[in-house]
Amino acid sequence: MNWAQQLLHWYDANKRDLPWRRTKDPYAIWVSEVMLQQTRVETVIPYYHTFLGRFPDPAALAAASEEVVLKGWEGLGYYSRARHLQAAARQIVERYGGQIPADPDRFRSLPGVGPYTCGAVMSIAFALPEPAVDGNVCRVFSRFFGWSDPVGSPSLLRQARQASQAQLDRLPRERIADWTQALMELGALVCLPRSARCEDCPLAADCVALQDGTVEALPVRKAR
Ligand code: ADE
Repeated sequence: MNWAQQLLHWYDANKRDLPWRRTKDPYAIWVSEVMLQQTRVETVIPYYHTFLGRFPDPAALAAASEEVVLKGWEGLGYYSRARHLQAAARQIVERYGGQIPADPDRFRSLPGVGPYTCGAVMSIAFALPEPAVDGNVCRVFSRFFGWSDPVGSPSLLRQARQASQAQLDRLPRERIADWTQALMELGALVCLPRSARCEDCPLAADCVALQDGTVEALPVRKAR
């Protein structure tokens, strides 16, 4: 097994049962990814259910008043996320008949949809080989490949996207969604910012940082 297969194998055995992993509805997955961008999983779960109960599809979100949408977002904070979500839902209704386009360029052009959100929704909902790289995925790759580019640097992001893309391009379609979630899950459960649980890591045998003793030093924090 190569390292990508090891990671997928680990994911199959260790993934958490999260509500957005029980659906292929691109709208529900999109809502989850927007909520998860700045909010922890445990906090998101009840909001995810309530929000989807009130606004079950893009048409419902588009038709609601902004006030009601922001009320539904109360407690999550970063309200621009909710405003963008609604603005995007309105464009989805106007331009795409209420269906989220299975097209990365179209989806990315909607308000609030950046490269991460686009990659996450396209890969998880539509099995399109689009990388979804956030800070957690950057940390995993930085350690695994021993990259010393600083946290948040364009070069770290670019290399991480390339590394994920290279695997996506070789995976069978039915593993694309799992690949995106497996990288996130490793970052959330094992390859932690501090006190990484390397003894439980499916990638330990090939991890450059682990061999070099630099797990805690990577990814490099920018000097301030
Ligand atoms: N963080 C961001 N996206 C996530 C997902 N799909 N599952 C768990 N944590 C996440």
